[in-house]
Amino acid sequence: MCMMGTRSVEGFFLRLHLASDMHTVVGITGASGIVYGVRLLKALPGKTTVVVSEEGAAIAEEELGLVPADLHALAQAHYSNSDLFSPLASGSVRFDAMVIAPCSVSTMSKIACGIGDNLISRIASVALKERRRLVLLIRETPLSSIHLGNMERLANAGAVVMPACPAFYPKPKSVEEMVDFVVGRILDALDVENRLYERWTGGSAPRPRSRGSRRNPR
Ligand SMILES: Cc1cc2nc3c(=O)[nH]c(=O)nc-3n(C[C@H](O)[C@H](O)[C@H](O)COP(=O)(O)O)c2cc1C
Repeated sequence: MCMMGTRSVEGFFLRLHLASDMHTVVGITGASGIVYGVRLLKALPGKTTVVVSEEGAAIAEEELGLVPADLHALAQAHYSNSDLFSPLASGSVRFDAMVIAPCSVSTMSKIACGIGDNLISRIASVALKERRRLVLLIRETPLSSIHLGNMERLANAGAVVMPACPAFYPKPKSVEEMVDFVVGRILDALDVENRLYERWTGGSAPRPRSRGSRRNPR
């Protein structure tokens, strides 16, 4: 019992240490929900690099009144999306994970087809070929069969395909809480300890009876 307790404390500090060492690349593309990328950059431990697409920058200004310099200031490093000479465009340069938040279906579809014509899609392509963690926070609704097919290809290639989809069981009281739920789930996908949202504990509502149980036994 005591041994297990010690081990789990060690494990906790080891995970914290690993998280503080990690390098995450955050791509921000032209989908609604730039706030997810902003909140993620504020919550991520370790080193962060941000790349913002042209349309992502326009929507950041529209939704949040932020200019690219505001987004760049949230990370340790930044590159232009057209800079295919960036070190991160090469698989020889280490990073631990990439998250695209929000991810447009246009960028998602490019990645699914192996197109790397800008830095965001190129780094995603590198993450897949080098077997590094790639999380795509997709924001679009409804989805066509083309989108769904591309998402399936990406999931099969090892990406974590995550619709920007808050839950309501924690009874959120603000937009910030809904955003934190989604960002907390991204951190979960990166194995980063977080308390951004309330985890499900079983609830308080009476549970429906299982099919086999008889309500009024005769
Ligand atoms: C105000 C605005 C909101 C948009 N919202 C979305 C969206 O939620 N999801 C999406 O996939 N595309 C959305 N788009 C379209 C993309 O921005 C467009 O397809 C763009 O080419 C994506 O480029 P990028 O992925 O390189 O940023 C939106 C465009 C505008 C102008």
